[in-house]
Amino acid sequence: MEFHDAPGATPLDPDEVAGLVPSHINTQGDLNAWEQINIVQGERWALRQKKREFLDEGFVRDLHKQMFDKTWKWAGTFRKSNKNIGVDWTQVAVKLRNLLENTQYQMKHQVFGADEMAVRFHHQLVWIHAFPNGNGRHARLMADLLAMRLGQARLSWGGADASITSVGVLRSQYLMALRAADQGSFDALMAFARS
Ligand SMILES: Nc1ncnc2c1ncn2[C@@H]1O[C@H](COP(=O)(O)OP(=O)(O)OP(=O)(O)O)[C@@H](O)[C@H]1O
Ligand SMILES: [Mg+2]
Repeated sequence: MEFHDAPGATPLDPDEVAGLVPSHINTQGDLNAWEQINIVQGERWALRQKKREFLDEGFVRDLHKQMFDKTWKWAGTFRKSNKNIGVDWTQVAVKLRNLLENTQYQMKHQVFGADEMAVRFHHQLVWIHAFPNGNGRHARLMADLLAMRLGQARLSWGGADASITSVGVLRSQYLMALRAADQGSFDALMAFARS
């Protein structure tokens, strides 16, 4: 089958598609629904990890695994090919380590306000693009966890029931805000994350 991603989503390589766990999935709609169930399980797992250090590679990978393990065999493992977005795949581990260390420093020294730290972290994490797929959803949840550890409410990313993963106004707003963040301007992303 062919999967049709929303604009701004990262296309999968054939060997990544071959890692699909469920055998009965034939359409993009089936896949989205299946993924969503798995993601909710991952979110529940994440919200239980209140004491665990979350700014380390082990947690980043575990969270991806918890969100996608029933969908993709490669859940929780870093990408092994280049995409149209993201650092060179050989640089994923080192760039991620830098980001996690910088973010720990920022949290400790309150370098930015809570929401700004969360969206800066989100933007850089999604820019590294550590995994073959699921980076947007994983990096939004990571940013939510950061905000919550700073005593803030979870981010809303355009509204609780609105799906920014499919084509539409919300997704364009989100992608425009990410492109502004690529240029060093985080206001639009901060506004979007609380909309
Ligand atoms: N110009 C950009 N700058 C930074 N990040 C971007 C840009 N364009 C796309 N992205 C990010 O890449 C994500 C898509 O990557 P991927 O397909 O791995 O994630 P996903 O969770 O499967 O998708 P989505 O979040 O779109 O449902 C987008 O959600 C967005 O977070
Ligand atoms: Mg995707």
